[in-house]
Amino acid sequence: PKKSPKRASVKADSPDVKTQLIKKLDDETEKDSDIIVKGLMTDELKEREVGHVSRKVYVAWAKAAGGTWVGILIILCFGAVEGINVLSKWWLTYWSQHGSSESGEIQFLAVYAAINLAVIITTFIRVVIVMLAGLRASRRLFEELLDVVLRAPMSFFDTTPIGRILNRFSKDMYTIDENLVSTLRSYLSTIFSVVSTILVISSITPWFTVCLIPIIIFYVSQQMYFNITYRELKRMDSVIRSPLYALLGETLDGVSTIRAFGAEQSLLRRLVDMLNKQQNAYFLTCTAQCWLAIRLEIIGTFIILFACLSAVLQHGSHGGDAGFAGLAGLAISFALSVTQSLNWSVRMASDMEANMVAVERVEQYRKIPSEAARALDKDVALGPYWPSLGAIRFENAKLRYRPGLPLVLKGLNLYIPARSKVGICGRTGAGKSSLCLALMRIVELDTGSIKVDGVDIRTVGLSRLRSKIAVIPQDPVLFSGSVRTNLDPFNEFTDERLYEVLGRVGLYVDRAASSSSLSSMSERQTSPVVKSVEDEVFESGNNFSVGQRQLLVFARALLRGANVVIMDEATAAVDADTDARIQRVMRVDFQHATCITVAHRINSILDSDYILVMDDGRAAEFDTPANLLSRGGMFRDLVNASKEA
Ligand SMILES: Nc1ncnc2c1ncn2[C@@H]1O[C@H](COP(=O)(O)OP(=O)(O)OP(=O)(O)O)[C@@H](O)[C@H]1O
Ligand SMILES: [Mg+2]
Repeated sequence: PKKSPKRASVKADSPDVKTQLIKKLDDETEKDSDIIVKGLMTDELKEREVGHVSRKVYVAWAKAAGGTWVGILIILCFGAVEGINVLSKWWLTYWSQHGSSESGEIQFLAVYAAINLAVIITTFIRVVIVMLAGLRASRRLFEELLDVVLRAPMSFFDTTPIGRILNRFSKDMYTIDENLVSTLRSYLSTIFSVVSTILVISSITPWFTVCLIPIIIFYVSQQMYFNITYRELKRMDSVIRSPLYALLGETLDGVSTIRAFGAEQSLLRRLVDMLNKQQNAYFLTCTAQCWLAIRLEIIGTFIILFACLSAVLQHGSHGGDAGFAGLAGLAISFALSVTQSLNWSVRMASDMEANMVAVERVEQYRKIPSEAARALDKDVALGPYWPSLGAIRFENAKLRYRPGLPLVLKGLNLYIPARSKVGICGRTGAGKSSLCLALMRIVELDTGSIKVDGVDIRTVGLSRLRSKIAVIPQDPVLFSGSVRTNLDPFNEFTDERLYEVLGRVGLYVDRAASSSSLSSMSERQTSPVVKSVEDEVFESGNNFSVGQRQLLVFARALLRGANVVIMDEATAAVDADTDARIQRVMRVDFQHATCITVAHRINSILDSDYILVMDDGRAAEFDTPANLLSRGGMFRDLVNASKEA
């Protein structure tokens, strides 16, 4: 490793030098984190849309919420609530002018109570309808998002940082669930109340309409100015959150590595740095809101002023009529409350647009291409037993992980006879795992074809294909839950069967049955790894060693049974004894299956029927081990090397 000359040249024992050193390190990490933050962000900044949230996004949300009829129903409800509200205030005016006798009071009061009861009931109905529509929309959107992501091809996961995906599922979905509907509700109700206020004032004092024109012009111009800024700030806020989430996730995953290297401080700094950047955007959204509030207060004040002025002006033309005085009072009381409604209407309008950005971001993911079809009509024609033999033919198979990347399989030609046991070896990066992925169509071939029992796998639905091939991957994956949920997630097998396979891989010892003959090391273990199928499995199987995890995954494959079994370094982390035992189990249990075993440990594949030596994406050698050994070549070199070791 290169040593930085500057750091090597200073003596680290004087305190001054030490603080200097620490400061220098700090600066460097700061620079690093800056670059990382920028790098992560620019990607997503590029990805983000600019300008208005397009109408399509609103339409998509409305469609998910239930479409036109639900929309009409909601508008009607809001109209009804506002209408009855105005009626209730008007009734007060009427009452104040006509109510006089004692008996009449009760009647007036009863009508007033009835009107207000109607307000309460319609408001309740309105809230329920809007909430249900919102709930429906977010459920639909979530399901669509989940569906799209689950069907996305591997290249999507390779190129998209996990934080970005999590952000869609957490922050954006939260916004749609929690904020969008309530802002929509507030927006509609304030808009309706502003409109009703203006209608009431204009109908009582028509002079008011003249002043209304400049007010509206000012209002619209301010709102547009504000909206642009506010929307972009909100977008920034969501974009900056992604690297933050990503860093948080990575830190949690790598917490032991971070501790081991004592990198807490530098990570903390990086996190604080990102938080600061995110807070910048958030703080500015708050500032922008204050800016707007001041302007709206002014508009509200002018509305009150003009409402009063026009009442005074028109008082003369009505000749001091007492009835007009009551109505003018009504108009002014409406005007007094308009400031708040105005303020809220604009804020809610921008909030709604800003929240719609969440829908926009979720909708963006709809453009992700999907994997090939899960099921095809042709699957049925294959019959239930395909592939009964498991003969595999690669014809000039070329594979690359993504367009623009170099080929990884470079024209592979290979015929694996039915039910044979094939061992694959080759240098790191030769394409062994890629070959396995191609067989499962996790990554699709560029050109060429793979035929299983004469059927091109490209013509088979993915579910069908993948259910018939068991893969034991290079890195064993367990899920938190119990041993049972890991082996048999769909509850298809009995406990006895589970214990049997666990016993076969050496993770479970049936004390009653095994007391007589104990042979291999794993059987001699005094305490078996798995005591019951209900044993807990922690997150990603952390309470098992890597070797034990591999054995569990192997047990899972045993349970499933398949006609083609692929083991990609599945026993790399277990001891030689256990490995040999697994090979034996495989020979018996997968007797009728085609088994492909990738192994660096030559011994574990020496007694295969065939050996494939991969080299740089091609099949360098393929023959029986005996032939390869006598002929000489890469395989014999590998065997000799392993013997020397
Ligand atoms: N997800 C990926 N995206 C892009 N390139 C990849 C990806 N996975 C593997 N590669 C490239 O494909 C080549 C072959 O990788 P592969 O995993 O098939 O090697 P391997 O033979 O299984 O090696 P090992 O013995 O280390 O498991 C490598 O050069 C690697 O850079
Ligand atoms: Mg590999």
